[in-house]
Amino acid sequence: MKSLLLPCWLLSATLFLVFAVLTSAVDRASCQKSSKEDPIKVCPPNTVIVGRTGKFQTIQSAVQSIPKDNTPYTILIQPGTYREQVNITRPGPLTLLGSTSNPNTHTSNTVTIIWKASEGSGGKGGDNAFTSTLTVAPNLDAALTGAGPTGHAVSKATPFGNTDFRAYNINFSNEGHSGPSLAVSISYANAGFYFCSTKSFQDTVYVGKIGSALFHGGEVAGETDFFYGFGTAWVQSAIVSLRGCGGGITAWKGTETTFPNKYGVYVHDSQVKKAGSVKSGGCALGRPWNALHRSIFAKTHLDDSIRTEGYIKWSGNDGHISGKTFMAEYANTGPGFNKAGRSKGPGKVLSDAEYEPYSTMEKVFQFMNGTYGNVRWIDRNPGGFVAGDTE
Ligand SMILES: *[C@@H]1O[C@H](CO)[C@@H](O)[C@H](O)[C@H]1NC(C)=O
Ligand SMILES: *[C@@H]1O[C@H](CO)[C@@H](O)[C@H](O)[C@H]1NC(C)=O
Ligand SMILES: *[C@@H]1O[C@H](CO)[C@@H](O)[C@H](O)[C@H]1NC(C)=O
Repeated sequence: MKSLLLPCWLLSATLFLVFAVLTSAVDRASCQKSSKEDPIKVCPPNTVIVGRTGKFQTIQSAVQSIPKDNTPYTILIQPGTYREQVNITRPGPLTLLGSTSNPNTHTSNTVTIIWKASEGSGGKGGDNAFTSTLTVAPNLDAALTGAGPTGHAVSKATPFGNTDFRAYNINFSNEGHSGPSLAVSISYANAGFYFCSTKSFQDTVYVGKIGSALFHGGEVAGETDFFYGFGTAWVQSAIVSLRGCGGGITAWKGTETTFPNKYGVYVHDSQVKKAGSVKSGGCALGRPWNALHRSIFAKTHLDDSIRTEGYIKWSGNDGHISGKTFMAEYANTGPGFNKAGRSKGPGKVLSDAEYEPYSTMEKVFQFMNGTYGNVRWIDRNPGGFVAGDTE
């Protein structure tokens, strides 16, 4: 009896899972392809439409129309270029869908959200937070970068922001090119970007305090310190494009917490490649914004833009290097991976055992209280394959 019951239970659980995964994939794609039919029929409940024939003409006006509660909402964005800043403060699940007939690649994206602001030029001034094209944070206090080794001191009373923000098939761009110019900024929130393109020159992706962000597929393009922050970012099966060499690709600022943390940036199964006139051997994998920087490039193909020593110090006089600086690589390939050259840099090449604690998203994404396994907001099957697999 027992031996019969167990497989039965397993089978129905598996079927349920497969069904849930399939229906969610179908809903997203049919909603994104729906521009000519009645989208409401094929989109998830609570879908708001933005665009030429939509109810709203700007994305932010659609965001503001949505109640600040925990009901899941979707915003379907019709093809076009939207010149605006988008700011998500609501706690409940929110998905932004870019219309596309090809939802499993960023190369056919039809929706671009553009802003142009650099810190000190075009921004409101005073903090990088004001420059960002997209902000996902409960309030301004949570979004501020601040300065110094620990950054802006966020008030203890700050609540968590969005628990499940997702963007599919959207190009986020900040055209500012004179200092920090954020394209996306995530603090006190969980955010997944699937088949998106995220571009600026400096400080493109900011994952601030208590922020968790996944970039699955798509492209992140920048020049200087273009993954920076305090939280945790995971880049999966994506293209990391070098529009020039400045600082490093990653510039993380670690934080001492009462619990052990793995805040940092993890680039997996991806490709690092030049996009523009980049000198061979000119670009660094990263540099420590403070001495607690943590980053890993794993199973990633590096083109010849990468310097022989891989990672570099912060700057000549103040290297920001201590025994706790963790700038690492694991099983990278390509002309940009020079094993002999790496021994001369401040980074390290990990063994299987050293890599193991960072090998899955469950092991690195933490809740606010430090507990690992903050992954319920992640779409594991965004393109008909399981996140973590190599595309
Ligand atoms: C979005 O960006 C990708 C490159 O990352 C590009 O192939 C695509 O054409 C862009 N879409 C638009 C509408 O510009
Ligand atoms: C986002 O909106 C909130 C609420 O209106 C506001 O307090 C905050 O300053 C905005 N964030 C940014 C970065 O402008
Ligand atoms: C930490 O927070 C998570 C999510 O709210 C919760 O599931 C978990 O039980 C908490 N852990 C502890 C030790 O409080």
